[in-house]
Amino acid sequence: MQKNGEHRQQVADKIIVALDVGSEAEAYALVKLLSPPLSYYKVGMKLFTICGPRIITRLKKLGAKIFLDLKFHDIPHTVASAAGIITSYGVDMFNIHLGGGGEMACAAVEAARETADRKGLPWPLVIGVTVLTSLDAQTLRETGIERSLDRHVVGLAALGLESGLDGVVASSQEAPAIRARCGEDFRIVTPGIRPSWSARDDQERVLTPRQALDAGADYLVIGRPIIKHPSPEKAIEKILAEMYK
Ligand code: C5P
Repeated sequence: MQKNGEHRQQVADKIIVALDVGSEAEAYALVKLLSPPLSYYKVGMKLFTICGPRIITRLKKLGAKIFLDLKFHDIPHTVASAAGIITSYGVDMFNIHLGGGGEMACAAVEAARETADRKGLPWPLVIGVTVLTSLDAQTLRETGIERSLDRHVVGLAALGLESGLDGVVASSQEAPAIRARCGEDFRIVTPGIRPSWSARDDQERVLTPRQALDAGADYLVIGRPIIKHPSPEKAIEKILAEMYK
């Protein structure tokens, strides 16, 4: 029984709820409602732009782990500065665009670790964005990229690995090829998750939570199926039941 409880918690720890809401009060209420069993939450550009950095410190005080999804992409010096600053807020995970190149990725990792060591904080996971799921082969060609989308995604993931990143954001469809190229320890964070009972919304290529786990995802980012559900706690129960099978 105890073992089942532990396994259930391990499964719950893989879910990152996207706090795509418009105010600190809504974010705060969701975190209080869903923790436990959940603990990991994604703060994206919208919420961060509305609330500023204090959203991180306030949610951390509730015991939440934070994935700050700001997708940094700039010259290495600027990205390093921003990476150091958000690390000092205590974020547990943040991301950068791998299109910014290896030097920029290395600068982000070094700044995050140096700041964490100085402040006595754990190293945050630094995650690379490969190709946004809103882009397709045509968009890549527009930007001068000739290799296929699949090869580009795996190539960028490999660049992330070589630059010291902890993992990448990728669709579940891309996860097996990334796992094969980058190894077991490289974290794969997947959005585009839709339980069998929920609407697709604007997500094109979706997988259920169970399928995403089977494809090799380490973390599942889930937003609307939970936060727009009439009862977010019930949504979590149903998702955990699907994942636990
Ligand atoms: O509501 P939904 O489950 O679609 O939310 C998914 C979250 O993951 C959103 O915050 C969205 O911005 C983010 N995301 C995504 N696809 C990507 C990268 C991030 O859906 N390729």
